[in-house]
Amino acid sequence: MSTATTSAPATATDPATTPSTRGLVEITKVRKSFGATEVLKGVSLTVEPGGVAVIVGPSGSGKSTLLRTINHLEKVDGGFISIDGNLVGYEVRGNRLHELRGKEILKQRTEIGMVFQNFNLFPHLTALENVSEAPVVAQGRSKDEARRRGLELLDRVGLKDRADAYPRQLSGGQQQRVAIARALALDPKILLFDEPTSALDPELVNEVLDVIRELAKSGTTLIIVTHEMGFARDVADTVVFMDQGQIVEQGSPEHIFTNPQEPRTRSFFSKVLEPAFNI
Ligand SMILES: Nc1ncnc2c1ncn2[C@@H]1O[C@H](COP(=O)(O)OP(=O)(O)OP(=O)(O)O)[C@@H](O)[C@H]1O
Ligand SMILES: [Mg+2]
Repeated sequence: MSTATTSAPATATDPATTPSTRGLVEITKVRKSFGATEVLKGVSLTVEPGGVAVIVGPSGSGKSTLLRTINHLEKVDGGFISIDGNLVGYEVRGNRLHELRGKEILKQRTEIGMVFQNFNLFPHLTALENVSEAPVVAQGRSKDEARRRGLELLDRVGLKDRADAYPRQLSGGQQQRVAIARALALDPKILLFDEPTSALDPELVNEVLDVIRELAKSGTTLIIVTHEMGFARDVADTVVFMDQGQIVEQGSPEHIFTNPQEPRTRSFFSKVLEPAFNI
């Protein structure tokens, strides 16, 4: 016999209990050269829906290039990338891959938010206008709706009261938080961060990392390049160590930070974790 009850178990559609089903990233044997230099040498990586992958490695190892291939800002020379099973930047016709047309690439990119080191806000638009412009232009939402959602997002990053400020009137940390709100406005499946705090004064780093920490719990897939090792250890499901265009080793933060297997990984962390960190 069924009776009405206030303590029914959570249903499968309860967002708090349902694992994310969108935002599966599959990178398969990706190669990329600039001129004669091969900077990605067959990189394969899977990030599960809602997963948080943090990519670390020495300067020039290919971290930014890899990130940029994920939203097709860089074209790959070999291999492929898919998101939820759909190829990024290409479609299969017959037996061959054909690059998508510009308009289709832009549409695909709306599913992939990117936050850059230098914020890249539009200087002539207010914080709110920066956040609400793309949903109107790229997704055809009404201005009112985009504005309402923009205010919600600014609230989420702690900046509702600065909605009418221009980028030049905001600190670096505030600008980066606006940039994160802007990336969220298109409701992306995936968010890519390329050293989101490295242009910031040290005292502003944490306010940005705190926002990303919150996002990490939200079910959006995050792929983050950072030199902030403490943050990486906190937030990552998977830490990926790259060197010379290859993934040398990947695993849980505990594995990578305390028990790396590869000599190159050990050597890198022995330099970057000392003397600031004790592992
Ligand atoms: N547009 C480009 N043209 C030519 N070479 C490039 C280009 N972009 C990157 N490279 C080269 O590719 C290699 C990898 O660069 P990438 O920016 O991906 O490294 P990274 O790991 O992000 O380094 P960093 O930690 O310094 O940001 C470097 O040798 C770089 O000089
Ligand atoms: Mg880089």
